[in-house]
Amino acid sequence: MWPHPDQEGMMTTSSSPTSSPPIRILAVAGARPNFMKIAPLMREFAQRPDRFEPILVHTGQHYDKAMSESFFQDLGIPEPDVNLGVGSGSHGHQTAEVLMKIEDLIIEKRPHAVLVVGDVNSTVAATLAAVKLEIPVAHVEAGLRSWDRKMPEELNRVMTDSVSEWLFTTEPSAETNLLREGIPAEKIHFVGNVMIDTLLSHRERAAKLDTVERLGLEPRKYAVLTLHRPSNVDSAEQLRRLFEVLGRLNEELPVVFPIHPRTAKAVEDNLGGMKPDLHLTDPLGYLDFLRLLMDAQMVLTDSGGIQEETTALGVPCLTLRDSTERPVTVTEGTNEIVGTEPSAIEEAITRLRSESPREGRRPALWDGAAAQRIVDILERDLATTLDGAARCGNEN
Ligand code: UD1
Repeated sequence: MWPHPDQEGMMTTSSSPTSSPPIRILAVAGARPNFMKIAPLMREFAQRPDRFEPILVHTGQHYDKAMSESFFQDLGIPEPDVNLGVGSGSHGHQTAEVLMKIEDLIIEKRPHAVLVVGDVNSTVAATLAAVKLEIPVAHVEAGLRSWDRKMPEELNRVMTDSVSEWLFTTEPSAETNLLREGIPAEKIHFVGNVMIDTLLSHRERAAKLDTVERLGLEPRKYAVLTLHRPSNVDSAEQLRRLFEVLGRLNEELPVVFPIHPRTAKAVEDNLGGMKPDLHLTDPLGYLDFLRLLMDAQMVLTDSGGIQEETTALGVPCLTLRDSTERPVTVTEGTNEIVGTEPSAIEEAITRLRSESPREGRRPALWDGAAAQRIVDILERDLATTLDGAARCGNEN
């Protein structure tokens, strides 16, 4: 299949014709949306201690307690084995920092595979470092395409997918996209959605929290807003236009806005610190945010993951972007792509508030078992390779 730097070691240490060392997986997470994806995978590896030796790497792309540490606590993710501490920077800087540091780590740890999730700068950087060292990459959440190459995440997705060995997909569109890009069918595995594994396993805990009351809200009588895409927040004009229309909604229905650090900075720099007329909060932890989503009348967002979470929960979602890389949330779920024009957003809000909302259904394989399917496939493929190598060593 692929050469591995560890093969010699395996040959001398194997004690029986078929025994092989545990499969060493370097699992990489860097930014907030990665943490809920890596959590169920780490749990699954931990359940197979004889077969897997996971090494968890936090790149440090997100570093604030609210953007990182609180997620490790809420989701019970083990302490990272290594933190690369790259922090913020321009795209080139941030990507290059991760690439350089993770290359050294891969050389030191000699993993059998590198596991990456999502589409952030850390994802593509770790992938590039690994494949150049001939270590195969498993990409979780492969094949999503917005067809908007102005989005940094789209570039990260295309580059990561083009060199990955295992492409684990969440929805049917992803397979179509990958086949169109010439990825061989045998590398593509439709496994479902690890983020929904996390949502389903934490829903009951979240339901017990008093987040809604604590924020002075009433169930079903508030909206939740998140905004952080460069296309929405980096232009003062666009930000002002969005705050105007959302401020009008807030007069009728409280709009809770946990503000992303990038957005807080943009408000400070571009709007002279003018506070939008909304219910502002600091970024929330995973469980508090899930609690808010569960009882929201509607959610307005430009995030990728929240489109999926609202679909899984059956909560109406208006996506303030011109495209989505997650079309199943529109065709089967509760998501509507409304664009970024204030008049279109206002129209969609009015329609949603006057009509009974579409219920939607949870897409296929968003059932809480995606991580298990992924780890089954990795175990099958890597164990075959390692056992083969061990046998080979014994014969020699
Ligand atoms: C990144 C991801 C995006 C994801 C988002 C979720 C890329 C290209 N983008 O965007 O896909 O949806 O995370 O949050 O990887 N900052 C802090 N504290 C932190 C992290 C960031 O203050 O812990 C501030 C810094 O000023 C930084 C800015 O936020 O410059 C942007 O952070 P960065 O990681 O570069 O990208 P995001 O916009 O967060």
